[in-house]
Order: sequence, then structure tokens, then C-alpha cells
Amino acid sequence: MTSIREQLSELYQNAFEALGHRAEFGRVVESDKAAPFQCNGAMAATGDAKKRGEKLNPREVAQAVVDAVEGSPLIAAQEIAGPGFINITPSAEALNARANALQADARVGAQMDPAPQTTLIDYGGMNVAKPMHVGHLRSSVIGDALKRMLRFRGHDVIGDIHMGDWGLQMGHLISELAEEQPDLVYFDPEVTDGFPEESPVTIEDLSRLYPQASGRAKADPERMKASRRATAEMQKGRAGYRALLQHFIDVSVAELKKDLGRLGVEFDLWNGEMCVDPLIPGMVEGLLKAGVAEVDDGATIIRVAEESDKAEIPPVILISRTGAALYHTSDMATIVDRLAMDTPPDRMFYVVDQRQAQHFEQVFRASAKAGWLARDRMEHLGFGTMNGPDGKPFKTRAGGILKLSDLMDQATDQARARLKEAGLGAELDADEFEAIARKVAIAALKFSDLSNPRMTNYIFDLERFVAFEGKTGPYLLYACVRIKSLLRRAAERGVSAGEIEVAEPAEAALVLALDDFDRALALTEAKRAPHILCDHVYRVAQAFSKFYSDCPVLADTVSAEVKSSRLALAEMTLRQLEIGLELLGIQVPERM
Ligand code: ARG
Repeated sequence: MTSIREQLSELYQNAFEALGHRAEFGRVVESDKAAPFQCNGAMAATGDAKKRGEKLNPREVAQAVVDAVEGSPLIAAQEIAGPGFINITPSAEALNARANALQADARVGAQMDPAPQTTLIDYGGMNVAKPMHVGHLRSSVIGDALKRMLRFRGHDVIGDIHMGDWGLQMGHLISELAEEQPDLVYFDPEVTDGFPEESPVTIEDLSRLYPQASGRAKADPERMKASRRATAEMQKGRAGYRALLQHFIDVSVAELKKDLGRLGVEFDLWNGEMCVDPLIPGMVEGLLKAGVAEVDDGATIIRVAEESDKAEIPPVILISRTGAALYHTSDMATIVDRLAMDTPPDRMFYVVDQRQAQHFEQVFRASAKAGWLARDRMEHLGFGTMNGPDGKPFKTRAGGILKLSDLMDQATDQARARLKEAGLGAELDADEFEAIARKVAIAALKFSDLSNPRMTNYIFDLERFVAFEGKTGPYLLYACVRIKSLLRRAAERGVSAGEIEVAEPAEAALVLALDDFDRALALTEAKRAPHILCDHVYRVAQAFSKFYSDCPVLADTVSAEVKSSRLALAEMTLRQLEIGLELLGIQVPERM
């Protein structure tokens, strides 16, 4: 199953080769100019010949290529433009063959990656008890989309939330709780087991205790010391503190599972930094023995600077001078842990804020130096910030912190309002309307995030995200729902999909847009860039909209064959859009 563009590429590549040029000059690309496709290799071939001392004219090269492929059943017309561009219009025959092949394919043209890899994606990265921020939200949405996409392409993917559950925030919570409720059994150093099953704190307690403690610690060095002491004792294994930590984690995870479930983001592993703590001593010893790590001024470090570095890359610090294991250490130990899995990953992707780039560069270099995983098997997939209208990282109205549940509520409120404004869903019962509003909200949040190139910052503008017009999630849902309603009406009238016969320009344009699916997916994967898939689904929706307004499907003036052909086009458009959206983590309602 190859796209028309690939079939054309092969044809032109053969022609270039037969004429004594390098085959690659025959590559055919999509064009939005005079014809759907273009081959621009004549200029490059001329330049190449010049290097060999041969003098050619690019228009003549183009003419020779055009003559060589003339008569191919794939081509309806060729035209040489400018210095030697070849504009190519595919034949109706090629379009029909391809359209019917796409219609018959459950994946509507999407191929599998020929080299599947076991891939671990580290995303989410929320911290226990600490409020979630937009970086965590972006990481969740992007990581989840990449996971779905890679799976669809045939890779084995493991998603790990990698919770932050081991740092100072834990010491803050423990010491603050110790002040509020000193009589809790967890604070009795004599008690080492048999702690209650039920958590002494709720999620509300945690969200109150953390800012309270960190605020006080900032203002008062003595209070800070208490937090640090509690952190160190907890990390050393004090039983009551460990039991508390487990409660904090359980309470936080339950809340996160609820919120992320609402957002439609899933993880396979709910591991955190704590799980790998027992691996640290052995790991450090091994690295020292192997000469990978060294002791420098009381700290255990791994030097990772390289000659070619433009800026200085400081060493990885495994154990600080005060004896503490740090962020580097837990990331290193996590790699050890992951490589010991039954099916160890071939590669690891970290979807984390771009501001942590140096951290990951250090960790990856150290892991390569340790011989664990080659440098090119580890990738930091950074991203820019979602900013508020003030240009600073987005915060909710309520002040300061982002609560995922608040954000979802706000988006759902907006979605409800927009649906009503547009007169949508008026005749549906309350439950269904509510379910639709939720889907619209999720589509709005996810699509607006994913459709921006990963590394760019963007401004949070809920009103724009939830709009039904423009390049938005809700626009795409609406496009799908319109097709669903068309299919229902067709079924009522007994019209069914049949052989596709492309006649109108809008039909041809729709087939070509659909035919670009595989290229878009392959590029999304190669660049780890979901916005490419977003661009694709948007283009398909637009091509459908043009088709739908130019080509009546069920009108009485239309013959039975044309009805069936157009219905088949509509059906496969819907199928491809639903697949594409599903890969972005977006679900389509039945109606609106
Ligand atoms: N918890 C970290 C933070 O909030 C993000 C974790 C990212 N993943 C990792 N393996 N370091 O910044």
C-alpha cells in the first residue's frame, strides 16, 4: 500500500536514474501551487552535473524527465514551470485506485514502523503533595499522545509517570504535620510497625500543609532545618516517616488518577523516585568500582564534560558532600531499574520541560559512560511553557496554583456555553449533553496544546481553544459529528457506501489529503512532534468541508452510484479523523 506521492516518486526517481542522474532528485513532493505535486530535482541534477564538468540546462533536464515518464497511467498532466519545476497532476485512475484501497484498509493508509522498538516514555512527573503546574499538564498531554502514536505504529510502549515523591516536600509535610498533630503514632520513634491502614491526612490536608510549611520554611531558617532533618530521617528509613510517606503517596495518587482519568491520560507504571532508593548504594558502589564515578571534595560525582562542549556541563552529583542522594541520583537509579525489567526498553524518552535540558544531558551522558544505554537511545523531549495573558507561566484565577480539576471545570463550563450559543445539543437529554461538553472541553485543551510545535511557548486562551471555528479541537469534533449525522441519514435512506469514482476537484483534493496520513504519522514519529498530526487532521477536516459543500451526497439530483461513491469518501474520512484524534487522546461524541 503506497501513497500516490510515493508511487510518483518512484516513477520520477527511475526516470532521473535512467537519464544518468542520481535517483533522489526524482523525489516528488506535495504542492499547493499549479498542481497537487511537484518534482524539483532538475535544478539539483544540473548543479550536480556541473560539479562533474558537464554543462546542462535545467529546463532541458526537466523536459527529458517529462518525456521519459510520459504515458504512465499514474499521470494526467505534467507541466514545466520556471527554471525547471515539474508540476504533476495524478490521473483519475490513480486517484480511484488509491481511494478504494484506502477505503478497504482499516488503518486508512497508516503503515507500521518497520523497526519497532520497546520504548519507555517518562511523562507526567507530578510531585506528591506539591501542586501540579502547567509543565506537568503539558508533559501529560504530549507524552500520552506520543505513547498512543508509537503504539499505533507498532512499538511496544511503557508509560511511566515517574512521580516526584522523595524530596524536601516530604520533609515539609512530615514536619508540619508533626507540629499540628504531635500525638500521631507515626512520630513516636519507638514504634516501628503496625501503623494504621487509614491515612491520617486527606488531599485537602496535603494541599494546605505543603504551602503552609514551605512558606514558613522560607521565612525561618530554623523551620527549614526541621524540614531538612525530617527529609533526611525519612530517606534513611525511619519507620513512622516511611509509613506517612506511603499515605501521602496513596492519597496523592488516588487524586491524580481521578483527575488524569477525567482528562483521559493513562500510565502503565505509577513508579516514583522512592521505588529506586534501595538501588542507590549498590549503583554508586558499582560506578565507583568501574571508575565511572569518583570522589571529589567529599562528593561522589561523574564527570560528563566533553571537549566539544560550548558551555560548561557540570558533573553529575550522585552523593552530595552532606551525604544526600539528589535528583541526578534518582534518575540514574531509575535507569538501572528500567533496564532490569523483563523486557528492558531499547530507548527512553523523557517528556519534561525544556528548562531541564541540562539535567537530562548530564544524566544521559553519565548513563552512556556507565555503559548502560547509548547516548542516542535516550532523548529529552522538551517543551515550551503555556503562558497566561501576562506572558508568565499560566496560573489559575484562584491564585497561584493550577488544579487540574479546576482547569477541567472551567473548560467544561466554556464548552457548555459554546454549545448552547451554537444551538448544539439542545434536543439531547441532560446526561448526554454533559458528556458531550466534557468531550469538547478535553478536545479543546489537548488540541490547543498539541497543535503548537512542542518547543514553542503559547498563550492560554480558553475562549479561543473552545471555539468551534478555527484550528481547534471542537472544530474537529464538529466536523466528525457532521459526518456521523450524514452516515445516519444515509442509513435511514438505505444508501450504502460503494466503489469510489473521483470526478470533482473537491473529491480529488479530499482523497489526496487523506492519502497524506502515513507521511504525517511517520513525520510525527520521526520528529516526536504531535503538531504534525494535528496539522494533518485539520487539513483533512477542511478538505472534507469543501467536498461537502461542493458535492451533494444524498440529494435527489445525484445518481445512485455517485451517492455511494461520495458516501464511501465520507465514511473513510470519518474513520481516519477518528483514528487521528484518538492518537491525540481526543474522543469524538456520536452527535452534538
Ligand atoms: N518531578 C519532576 C518535576 O516536577 C519532573 C520529573 C521528570 N522526570 C524525570 N525522570 N526526571 O520537575
